[in-house]
Amino acid sequence: MTQTHLTAFLLQHKIGGVPAPAELISLIEEVAASCVTISGLVAGGALTGVLGSRGVENVQGEVQKELDVLSNDLLLKNLEGSPQLSAMASEEMEDIHPCKTQGPYLLLFDPLDGSSNIDINVSIGTIFSILKAPGGTPDISSFLQPGREQVAAGYTVYGPQTMLVLTLGAGVFGFTLNPADRTWVLTSENMQIPADTKEFAINMSNMRHWAPPVRAYIDDLLAGKDGPRRKDFNMRWVAAMVADVHRIMVRGGIFMYPWDKREPDKAGKLRLMYEANPMSFLVEQAGGKSIAGGAGRMLDVTPTGLHQRVPVILGSRNEVEVFEGYAES
Ligand code: F6P
Ligand code: MN
Repeated sequence: MTQTHLTAFLLQHKIGGVPAPAELISLIEEVAASCVTISGLVAGGALTGVLGSRGVENVQGEVQKELDVLSNDLLLKNLEGSPQLSAMASEEMEDIHPCKTQGPYLLLFDPLDGSSNIDINVSIGTIFSILKAPGGTPDISSFLQPGREQVAAGYTVYGPQTMLVLTLGAGVFGFTLNPADRTWVLTSENMQIPADTKEFAINMSNMRHWAPPVRAYIDDLLAGKDGPRRKDFNMRWVAAMVADVHRIMVRGGIFMYPWDKREPDKAGKLRLMYEANPMSFLVEQAGGKSIAGGAGRMLDVTPTGLHQRVPVILGSRNEVEVFEGYAES
């Protein structure tokens, strides 16, 4: 069987009948190459000394794991000299990181998503988003573009297989890392999220903190066949957004990280620019739906800050719409 590698795929891929820009192809290849290196660090675990934590908090107030820092530094070092980039922003850094040239794009990333899974050998990943650089000297405002302006987004999952899932705005494509030669091979063409589902993902331990519409919706799912939904639902929670979203990409489901009253002034837990927007772009491109809680389409949210948080509800289109009925009532 002939295999299609990432570069060959990108060279023949058309967006609205037009080939992808050469600069965008190069940038995606550079990001994908860094993810191959990160996957090597992840796989080494204790043997490469990447487990454990630094004991310091990042800009998000979370304790940084060793692998969070290593992955962030690796992406910065590998990409700061890219002629395709003007600047980068990361979940792990307060400020933006200007690049050596003023290339046509901006890169945003969550270098290691789901870090609480690192030390227990459960799936984690890298999430990235690419925007056009508006030109001139980049600053924070250059990045504050709504998600619908993304020109590409993707994630890698470091799991039983290492996979890269990518969109350039013309469908979603999955690549598996061939461990023999460390190349990305196309293994899933035009990924589609089933419109209906019987599976949900939410951290149930927060139930007592949820707003009434979220509580009412989940109560009805839990009521199963005897409740108003007239079917039994299953639940999964990997606690790494990449892994939970990847499952939904493959077999459908609804993923929820709503606002809750633990920290009422925070709009949610997840980050708009590094997590919600790239995942929402992918989900929409795969036929799914993504909303910012009761505030409408995620990709239309106007960002007000680099590290802004949002409530996230995404996945199978019809199920997200059922939830919207609760949010509106
Ligand atoms: O990046 C934040 C994150 O780790 C997500 O990947 C994941 O979905 C979520 O937090 C897990 O949250 P909790 O700790 O509430 O399970
Ligand atoms: Mn994350």
